[in-house]
Amino acid sequence: MNTNELIGTARLMVDDHKGILAMDESFPTANKRFAKLGIPQTVEARRAYREMLVTTPNLGEFISGAILFDETIRQKTKDGTPMIKVLTNSGIIPGIKVDTGTKDLAGHPGEKITEGLDGLSDRLAEYYEMGARFAKWRAVIVIGDGIPTKAAIETNAVTLARYAALCQEAGLVPIVEPEVLMDGDHTMERCFEVTEEVLRTVFNQLYLQGVLPEGIILKPNMVVPGLSCSIQKLNNEVADATVKCLMRSVPAAVPGITFLSGGQSAELASARLNAMNIHFKSKLPWELSFSYGRALQQPALETWLGLDANVQEAQKALYHRAKCNYAARLGEYNSGMETT
Ligand code: 13P
Repeated sequence: MNTNELIGTARLMVDDHKGILAMDESFPTANKRFAKLGIPQTVEARRAYREMLVTTPNLGEFISGAILFDETIRQKTKDGTPMIKVLTNSGIIPGIKVDTGTKDLAGHPGEKITEGLDGLSDRLAEYYEMGARFAKWRAVIVIGDGIPTKAAIETNAVTLARYAALCQEAGLVPIVEPEVLMDGDHTMERCFEVTEEVLRTVFNQLYLQGVLPEGIILKPNMVVPGLSCSIQKLNNEVADATVKCLMRSVPAAVPGITFLSGGQSAELASARLNAMNIHFKSKLPWELSFSYGRALQQPALETWLGLDANVQEAQKALYHRAKCNYAARLGEYNSGMETT
C-alpha cells in the first residue's frame, strides 16, 4: 500500500474548502431523471450532459474531485478529449463509482445489500491506469418497522470495509458511503440512533480489515428527520445532531467527511452544511465538506433539458451551486447568495 499517495490524495479531496461533484448516476437513475424532464434516455444524451458538467468554466475553483460512472470515464467530449482529461486539466481529481448497485438482502424484507466485490481488484487496477485516484461505494440502510436489523448493518459494513481495503491496495482513496435513507416518517432522534450504530459498525470493520483511516473519505448522511416526519427541524438543530453523532463515531484520523445530499433541496443542503461549519469548524478534527449529486446538479439539469442552446446557462447553475457550497464550508453561505 502506498500510504503517502493515499494520504496525499485524500487531503487534496478536502483541502482549500473545495468539495466533490457526484456525477456517477447509474443507467436507471440517470434515465429516470432524464425521463422526468423529457430528455431522451440515450448514450449520447448522457454523454452530452456529462460533457456540459465537466466543461463548466472555472469549476475547479470550488470542486476538488468528480465521481464518474463507468460509462463516462470511457467517453470523450465532442472535440475528442477524454472526459477524464478535461477534469485533470481543470485541476479536478477523477474518481469512479465501483459498486454495481443494491439488491434485496436475502432473508431480510425491506433491506438492501450493495454488490460489486467480484472482480473488483481487476477493475480498480484498470481505473487507476486510466487516471482515477479515488473510488466510491454506497451502502443503503433503510429505517422502518423493525429495521434496520443488525444483520443488514453488519453485512453492509463488512462489504464497505472489503471494498475500502481493495481500493487502498490499488492506490485509490475509498469514499466510504453508508447512507441512512431519509425516506419514512421517523424522527431525527431515530436517524441519530441508527446513523451512530451504522458508523460505529463501519469503523470497527474498517479497523478489523486494516484500512488506513488517514486514507479514506467518509460520505455519510446528515442526521435529519424522515422526509414525511411531522416534526421537521431547524438547520441549527440538524447541524448540532449531525456533528454530535459524528464526534461519537468517526476517528479523528479521518481527513474529511463529505456529505451526500440524499434528497434535500439544493438550498437546504447548503444551509445545513453552513450551519455546521459556522458553529463547529474550528473545533473539529476532520474537514466537513460536500459530495452532493442532486444538490449540485439538479438546477443545472433542469436548465439544460437536453438542448445545446442551454449549455451556458446550465453551467452557470452548476457553478453557482458549487460556489454556494464552497461558501458553506467557510460558514459564509447565506440565502442572499441565491438571489444575486
Ligand atoms: P445525492 O447527493 O443526490 O444523495 O447523491 C450523492 C451520491 O453520490 C449518492 O450515492
